[in-house]
Amino acid sequence: MHSLFLHDRRAFLGRLALGGIAWQVRGAFADELVRTPVQTEGPFYPDKLPLDTDNDLIIINDAATPALGDVTYLSGRILDSSGAPVRSALVEIWQCDNNGAYLHSGTTNREKRDGNFQGFGRFMTGSTGEYLFRTIKPVPYPGRTPHVHFMVKLKGREKFTTQCYVKGHPGNEKDGIYNSVKDPKQKAAITVPFTPIQGARAGELAARFDIVLGFTPQV
Ligand SMILES: [Fe+2]
Repeated sequence: MHSLFLHDRRAFLGRLALGGIAWQVRGAFADELVRTPVQTEGPFYPDKLPLDTDNDLIIINDAATPALGDVTYLSGRILDSSGAPVRSALVEIWQCDNNGAYLHSGTTNREKRDGNFQGFGRFMTGSTGEYLFRTIKPVPYPGRTPHVHFMVKLKGREKFTTQCYVKGHPGNEKDGIYNSVKDPKQKAAITVPFTPIQGARAGELAARFDIVLGFTPQV
C-alpha cells in the first residue's frame, strides 16, 4: 500500500512536470508582460538545508506522514523580459509550515514546528521554463501576511528573489513588504489565486505564479 502510494505520487508529479495538465493559454501575453518585482529574501532562507530538497514539500523522503496544511500544486513559468521561457533556471521556494515555523534555527514558533513539512524545495526548469511544487497554502505568522519565498538562480546571473501572495487574503492590506510594491500591475503579478482543483479527492488547491525576469534573451 505504502509503495503503491509512493509510485502514484511520483507518477503524478512527473506527469504534471511534463505538462500533462493543460493550463489556460493567455491571449496577447507578450503585450501584458509585467516584470516581477524583487522582494526581500528575508531572514529565513534555511540556515541548514534539509536532506530532501525535491519539489514535493508535503512528504520528506519516504515518510508515511504528510505535512499539515492545505495541499497546493504551485506552478508557473520562468520567463525573460520578452516572454520567452528560461531553461536551466533553479527555482527554490521556502515558506513557514502550517504552524508558522520556518526551517531555520531563528524561527518563531519553533516548538510547534511541523517535522513533516519539508519547508524548502527546488526545481530545475526545462525548455518550457515550467516549474512545479507540491506544498501547502501559506499561512500568516506574526508580522506577515501569507507568502511563499522564491529564489531563481541562473548561471552567470545575480540570484533573483521575490515572494508570492494569496489573492484576497485580508492580511495583505497591512503587510509592509507586500505594500512596498507601489505599481498596481507589479503588485497584481505577485498576488495569485489559490483555487480548488476540480474533482480533486482531497480538496487540493492549485496556484499559478509566473516569474518574469528583467533580462532579454542572449541569442
Ligand atoms: Fe517569510
